Amino acid sequence: MRNYLSELALGLEPYTPGEQPKDKKYIKLNTNENPYPPSKLVGKAIEFETEDLRLYPDPEATALRESLAKYYGLKADQVFIGNGSDEVLAFAFPAFFSGGTVLFPDITYSFYPVFAGLFATAYQEVPLKKNFVLEASDYFPENRSGETKYPSGILIANPNAPTGRYMSLGELEKIILANPETVVLVDEAYVDFGGESAASLINTYDNLLVVMTLSKSRSLAGLRVGFALGKSHLIEGLTRIKNSFNSYTIDRLAMAGAIFAIEDEAYFQETRHKIIKTRETVAAKLEAMGFHVIPSKANFLFVSHHKKAALDLFNGLRDRGILVRYFNKPLIDEFLRITIGTESEMETFIGVIGELAGFTNDEQPDRINGELTD
Ligand SMILES: Cc1ncc(COP(=O)(O)O)c(C=O)c1O
Repeated sequence: MRNYLSELALGLEPYTPGEQPKDKKYIKLNTNENPYPPSKLVGKAIEFETEDLRLYPDPEATALRESLAKYYGLKADQVFIGNGSDEVLAFAFPAFFSGGTVLFPDITYSFYPVFAGLFATAYQEVPLKKNFVLEASDYFPENRSGETKYPSGILIANPNAPTGRYMSLGELEKIILANPETVVLVDEAYVDFGGESAASLINTYDNLLVVMTLSKSRSLAGLRVGFALGKSHLIEGLTRIKNSFNSYTIDRLAMAGAIFAIEDEAYFQETRHKIIKTRETVAAKLEAMGFHVIPSKANFLFVSHHKKAALDLFNGLRDRGILVRYFNKPLIDEFLRITIGTESEMETFIGVIGELAGFTNDEQPDRINGELTD
């Protein structure tokens, strides 16, 4: 039977999101969600807003833009709001990259090549160094040739996904400075878990766009709110694309909830610090059990074991009710990406992965709540 799909649709290789299983209850450490609920203020704001749902939302999301501008010390015309940061990233392709070539690391967020396919944009993957280190000079025009010497875009997730590696603002600035003709987009989905945001550089550089999300550090993956910060000419580019696609990408409930999540600073600080602390403890315990753990400033760890195959560990964990993420891709097929859950979830995780790695209960390093003694 004819399928009626366009050549474009047939040619796409869509992104595969992490599993959201329905067969039983798992400890979900596979999609980098926050294990803690959002601020209580979010629910109240949403309830209050429901009365006005008969009305279209503000297409410019003015109140939310103002709230984010205040938070980051910028002006409202330096803020763009999207339906999750995936949408903001997608809009960046037709706004800045199409017609040229976009560069990004060979190991990074796997949605980038999918967007490139959808928006018919050429891209080149720049190999990371050993242990997934990003070398700034790999992005300098003098070290590149042909189409990629002056790319239309450079796309860097910082911290990177799925590795968790963070590059310092000083190194990032070298890339921004070396490429004045290029939009350097820094995807900071995970920056609140220990990195320093490039938002502080927005007023210094005309070519810097910082993209963030409320999905991770604000526990709002289900609300779908992401945003970009940049000088107003870049925000204008994203707005032109949005208004040629859908005027109302952010609904009233999302806008109301997002504003209150931003305002609850105390809760934000409390939960992000809890996750950072748990991450450090889990990393130390995994290392003590012989795992190779890539240094992470995200809400996940990227780990491998010298004796146990990652796929076997993945399946073993799954059988025991724990979901982590495994990527069957060259260079990373011996690694697992483990989202940081609550302390008690991670205690269970350490127990199970320890057994799978061949440790008896007694041999395992102290459980998660105690100080690490070995
Ligand atoms: C690096 C990176 N950027 C962006 C996103 C998208 O987040 P959202 O669309 O929920 O804002 C993710 C989600 O996992 C991510 O890992």
